[in-house]
Amino acid sequence: MASKEIKNILVTGSVGQIGSELTMALREKYGAGNVVAAGNRSKPSDELKNSGPFEWVNVVDIMQIVDVVRRYDIDTIVNMSALLSAVGERNPMLCWDVNINGLINTLEIARIFELNQVLCPSSIAVWGDYAPLENTPQETVLKPTTMYGTTKVAGELLCDYYVRRYGVDARGLRYPGIVSAETLPGGGTTDFAVWIYYKAIEEKKYECFVRDDTRLPMMYMPDCLKATIDLMEADFDKLKHHGDFNLGSMSFSAAELAADIRKHIPEFEVTYVPDERQKIADSWPSSVDDTAAREEWGWSPDYDLSEMTRDMLTTLQKRHDEGKLYG
Ligand code: SER
Repeated sequence: MASKEIKNILVTGSVGQIGSELTMALREKYGAGNVVAAGNRSKPSDELKNSGPFEWVNVVDIMQIVDVVRRYDIDTIVNMSALLSAVGERNPMLCWDVNINGLINTLEIARIFELNQVLCPSSIAVWGDYAPLENTPQETVLKPTTMYGTTKVAGELLCDYYVRRYGVDARGLRYPGIVSAETLPGGGTTDFAVWIYYKAIEEKKYECFVRDDTRLPMMYMPDCLKATIDLMEADFDKLKHHGDFNLGSMSFSAAELAADIRKHIPEFEVTYVPDERQKIADSWPSSVDDTAAREEWGWSPDYDLSEMTRDMLTTLQKRHDEGKLYG
């Protein structure tokens, strides 16, 4: 089955941390009018709302997605709607509903309307008990300990099932923690790696909710956008995997991150007060083996920790000086 051309894209969850920047990147590439941003509850930024079509869509209601797909002649859906790990533990039923029913609605629409492609991200949260947590292989035990991870494993399996059973072109990649300066993350365990930069600029101190030696795989947003769009544009015939590509970039501990920031802000102080998110972080890998992504669609990251830190601090300092650190 060859890849079909991507023309009209729907991005669900477009108001979130990744969705907001991915929508803008796709608009740049595919034309602003051809990328519909969909949100559910959170208010979209003026940039997102004014640069192209915006629609309110609750992914749990299949008819709301169908309506947008018909009106805009959508051929590709990027399903970024999800409840993340920490917030998912506070409301497991809602996490299941949004992450699983939202995805299966999308896949059903792709099957019935013969869409060209569905992309749904997965996460480092798919691992947990029994998986090797260093240089975690592509194929290994998937026994997550969170509801978020459970939905991501099920989501990967659903994508692969729709590929095999119905010939739907479904793709997905296991994002590490994503660091970015545009939209704050909402309710994840890796959020500390974003907040630390904001607090370094704002208060020169930060209370971190995981231990200093907590080491997780992370990625800077420009690499996340590149990976997502590269996978969308990859030749389907070259893919052996579909919904579950490991994706690596950098790994660091909370203390190493703080030390890197201190190279720019020497007075920056971090205290470590682990909360319930520590247990989640401890169940996730410190690094992953992304050979399959490198071989099957040419993945290679651009940023390391020091380049990311320089870029994050420059962006946030500028916004702080203009009196709009939080937008
Ligand atoms: N960033 C996510 C979280 O922390 C993991 O995919 O929940």
